[in-house]
Amino acid sequence: MIASNMCSENTICYNSLVTRIDREKLNGHKSVVIWFTGLSGSGKSTIAHEVEKRLFGLACRTFVFDGDNVRHGLCGDLGFTPENRKENIRRIGEMVKLFLEAGVITLSAFISPYKADRNWLRELVSPEKFIEIYCRCPIEVCEKRDVKGLYAKARAGLITNYTGITSAYEEPDNSDLVIDTNLLSPEQSVDIVLNHLINDKKIIF
Ligand code: ADX
Repeated sequence: MIASNMCSENTICYNSLVTRIDREKLNGHKSVVIWFTGLSGSGKSTIAHEVEKRLFGLACRTFVFDGDNVRHGLCGDLGFTPENRKENIRRIGEMVKLFLEAGVITLSAFISPYKADRNWLRELVSPEKFIEIYCRCPIEVCEKRDVKGLYAKARAGLITNYTGITSAYEEPDNSDLVIDTNLLSPEQSVDIVLNHLINDKKIIF
């Protein structure tokens, strides 16, 4: 469980006059948090951005949060120790919760290697609004792809705490969707996500 670390006592929340449901109705779709987890190189970002493009084409309000990107700004002070990863996920969890209230469909691509942090996210957001998608891909395949050259650096001992090499990835066992990205094309993977969102009425009324 992630501690809330609430230091700002004597603060009282103001209830917005415009509700999430009002915003969803205006947008013409429901808001959800779509959370992609998986090893580096497993295809999380590729699928998240392609799904966003398709949703945007359907006139949906969307936004992608990407691990590599937020680590250049909001989470630029965090490294890759278990504590830092937990804080990374906590910050993004709180962010996507705000976006959910704003009526936006968020797509987050983070390794998010720990079960406890992912379970915390689901409860924070609310289980019916949280869609976890496991981009499953054998480490050998991710390492062979090595798009950013980081697996090679980790093997050479130049990067510490590297997920799958010197840091654990705890496989999900309760994901809403599992996508075998080594067996499916990006287009097929995107179709699976879109089908889930539309046919299972996750985003349509
Ligand atoms: S998470 O574990 O906290 O969820 P996050 O998704 O934000 O990780 O960042 C992962 C990205 O950071 C990887 O795609 C990779 O490009 C880069 N990276 C740099 N160092 C590491 C490391 N030690 N372990 C994993 N990824 C790393």
